Amino acid sequence: MKERTRPMTIDDYAGVYQLWRDTPGIGLNNLDDSMEGIERYINRNPTTCFVYEDANAEIIGTILCGHDGRRGYLHHTAVKVSERGKGVGTALVDAAVEALQKERITKAALVVFANNEPGNTFWENYGFTVREDLTYRNMILTV
Ligand SMILES: CC(C)(COP(=O)(O)OP(=O)(O)OC[C@H]1O[C@@H](n2cnc3c(N)ncnc32)[C@H](O)[C@@H]1OP(=O)(O)O)[C@@H](O)C(=O)NCCC(=O)NCCS
Repeated sequence: MKERTRPMTIDDYAGVYQLWRDTPGIGLNNLDDSMEGIERYINRNPTTCFVYEDANAEIIGTILCGHDGRRGYLHHTAVKVSERGKGVGTALVDAAVEALQKERITKAALVVFANNEPGNTFWENYGFTVREDLTYRNMILTV
């Protein structure tokens, strides 16, 4: 079998979750990143989430991506440590961007920890610029 990027399904959850757990820089949340939370996300965004499989069908990279009809958002981009620097991350972002473009989404955004230097370099080099004029705000909605 050849290495490939393919759409993520909920059947990939165990492999993907393990990869996230092994990846510092990915902030995991008990609710949103539970199997139920990820299933809900994939059901809403069935064409824009991807995994990268190696020749043995092991998941070595993943990206969650979705949109709200106006803006695209990328989350939890992760590549297995031993496989970094080989273009896997770029292939996953390419797939997500192409999938958003097919749905006529014209802008995409993401959040990355400010102290994640390699992560920020990756996004900067890909073309995701920093908006100095904006402040990221959020609010917890759980009761
Ligand atoms: C960020 C990450 C997804 C990149 O995946 P990758 O498969 O290694 O990336 P690529 O091989 O496609 O690299 C593309 C470019 O990104 C930059 N880059 C990637 N890793 C880098 C690093 N450690 N330091 C500096 N630049 C880096 C380089 O410009 C690289 O291009 P080059 O190889 O021509 O120099 C991966 O390092 C990772 O999983 N990091 C931990 C999780 C994380 O921080 N995710 C992003 C924040 S949400």
